[in-house]
Amino acid sequence: MEITLAPFAPRDIRPLLEWNDGLGPDFLTQWAGFGYSYPLTRGQVTDKLDAQGAAKYLVFALRAEKRTVGTLELNFLNVPAGCATLCRFLIAPEQRLRGLGAKALRAAEAYARERLGLDTLLLKVFEYNRIAVSCYKRAGFDIRRIVTHQNGLPMLEMEKRITHA
Ligand SMILES: CC(C)(COP(=O)(O)OP(=O)(O)OC[C@H]1O[C@@H](n2cnc3c(N)ncnc32)[C@H](O)[C@@H]1OP(=O)(O)O)[C@@H](O)C(=O)NCCC(=O)NCCS
Repeated sequence: MEITLAPFAPRDIRPLLEWNDGLGPDFLTQWAGFGYSYPLTRGQVTDKLDAQGAAKYLVFALRAEKRTVGTLELNFLNVPAGCATLCRFLIAPEQRLRGLGAKALRAAEAYARERLGLDTLLLKVFEYNRIAVSCYKRAGFDIRRIVTHQNGLPMLEMEKRITHA
């Protein structure tokens, strides 16, 4: 199944809310940090989309066969420095562990390199999130250092040079 990045649209909000439905604040922090507050609402997502251009981040929907199967953001976009931080990465629950995360990372990398002219992607992931860490390592991200989130849990800072496909 091919995956493409598209600008996150109002029609993507409902699936995003459904993927979080019934899950607690720890799950929201796992994938969104403190970028959203629990419980996630349509209003929070709309506010984030509205603030995109001025705040130097881009919110994407991940699409496969015309369906929304996930989301990710490129944040702290710094074109002069050649870098951005990949964050708020989430794949639909029924689609996980089938390699879509890996494909989404390749699509984000291509966008960052070819459309934004970046040479480095950064990210942070909770150390306990072994599936995400596996996905990032397999995609070529290396651990740079370990930091502590405001919630007290260790996070890995990871980095990938993306100058060559
Ligand atoms: C993290 C996430 C985006 C990855 O997407 P995905 O489609 O599930 O990932 P993939 O199928 O491409 O890769 C999963 C990897 O985890 C590995 N894996 C599976 N079970 C595992 C386990 N129990 N422990 C460690 N690794 C595991 C798989 O083998 C695969 O690695 P490989 O490519 O080296 O074989 C997705 O699982 C998700 O949405 N998780 C919940 C939200 C979240 O935590 N987001 C990350 C925030 S930083």
